[in-house]
Amino acid sequence: MKNKKTIITYGTYDMLHEGHMRLLERAKALGDYLIVGVTDENYDRSRGKLNVVESTKKRVKSIEALDFVDKVIVETHKNQKVEDMQKYDVDIFAIGDDWVGAFDYLNEYTHVEYLARTEGISSTKLRAENFDMIKLGMVGLGRDTQAFLDEAAFVSNLKINRIFSRDFLALKKFTKKSDIIKYGHDNYDEFLDTNISAVYIDTALEEHYTFIHKALKAGKHVLCENPLALNKRELKELLALAKKEKVLLLSALKTAFLPAFNQLLKELDEGVIGEIKEVRATRTSLYKEKDYPESFMAQGATNILSSYPSLLVNKILGKSKNITFFDQGNEGYDVSNLIVSKHKGGAIGISHVATGIKSEGDAVISGTKGYVYIPAPWWLTKKFYVRFEDEHKSQIFNYEFDGCGLRYMIAEFSSLIQRGKRKSKMLSPSDMVGINRVLLEYNERKEKEKEQKKKEK
Ligand code: CTP
Repeated sequence: MKNKKTIITYGTYDMLHEGHMRLLERAKALGDYLIVGVTDENYDRSRGKLNVVESTKKRVKSIEALDFVDKVIVETHKNQKVEDMQKYDVDIFAIGDDWVGAFDYLNEYTHVEYLARTEGISSTKLRAENFDMIKLGMVGLGRDTQAFLDEAAFVSNLKINRIFSRDFLALKKFTKKSDIIKYGHDNYDEFLDTNISAVYIDTALEEHYTFIHKALKAGKHVLCENPLALNKRELKELLALAKKEKVLLLSALKTAFLPAFNQLLKELDEGVIGEIKEVRATRTSLYKEKDYPESFMAQGATNILSSYPSLLVNKILGKSKNITFFDQGNEGYDVSNLIVSKHKGGAIGISHVATGIKSEGDAVISGTKGYVYIPAPWWLTKKFYVRFEDEHKSQIFNYEFDGCGLRYMIAEFSSLIQRGKRKSKMLSPSDMVGINRVLLEYNERKEKEKEQKKKEK
């Protein structure tokens, strides 16, 4: 016969408050040994909880410090509760009554007890009280504006009410129809002079530098589509300016913020496939068929698309050295580029981008013990497979998400601002330099080639 009664409970426990403490105390009083499962940040984000301000580590530490808690574990995936009931031989599963009914299925494994929730307090309430509302203005009006607004609606403490575009008529039409954005500006200086504290820039690539520069100078936090600039000097200048002005500058590379992508990096870091020797990623898009203007296409496949494979390659293998380009051109710009880079320990990165060729947009990461396969479109990472020589050992990691994935990036941007942080761990300034190195180096070489040709003439 068992001589101690084990209780288990789960939660996020962000900004630990009285409601949490009272629940845990009462849970412990149901038996002898209390296990608390703290939800991991990637798991929380994948189940739609986007605004948690404290890291998993910090939340685990706060719970560990409580006298009446005997053990703290981290909850990382959906079916873990059932696994834990058996692993820890749990007698009672306790949870607040805001979850009534949701965990009845666990009665098959243990006894489920719903405890009364403490009225008038929650992490959501504390976050709203402790952090100011961020007012964000959008720069550029185009086909993706509405998608950004739809996704931003899932992020709390963020209000978007202004937009800048030079197209006065389109602006008027948009603000008249929109339920969210009421103010349209066709003068950028006036737009920056309003009460917005942050901007999101989605304009023609060659305009990014100027828009970012002005916004940073005006003390606004900036989220901008990549590339932030089209040459190395300008990129360095922008990063230095953001630092000087003490504001946040972040590339809008949505992949970097997806729960599955971050879980993938964690697994690789833990050595699941051994030493990584090769990263291969493809991204192609026939923009012409989607009716994009020639001026957009003329930026070339490398400028338009290479940031995404570069993100994967650089996050996993680090800095790229000895970059070789196998480009195919058309009308003065590249429509396909196979980019091979060398990395620490002799590892190789292979990125294929194209706007004039269609190919499978998947990615493979190869290691000394196994490989990871991310099916197309790999940059909207939802699931990945870890495979070995022995196929029975293969694993699938599934982090489905709703919408187009922008909400994770917007949530990180707003959460960093609220917490007074100027760097993202998911996409640091040095990550941004590394990711842009490939395309900036390509532009530099192209420039030199042009000058050489001019001289020869
Ligand atoms: N809880 C409680 N009383 C409160 C708040 C939470 O009893 N006022 C309980 C929940 O029912 C759950 C546990 O504490 O069993 C952890 O809840 P969590 O979701 O982390 O806390 P919330 O404050 O509800 O967080 P949020 O507002 O982010 O949903």
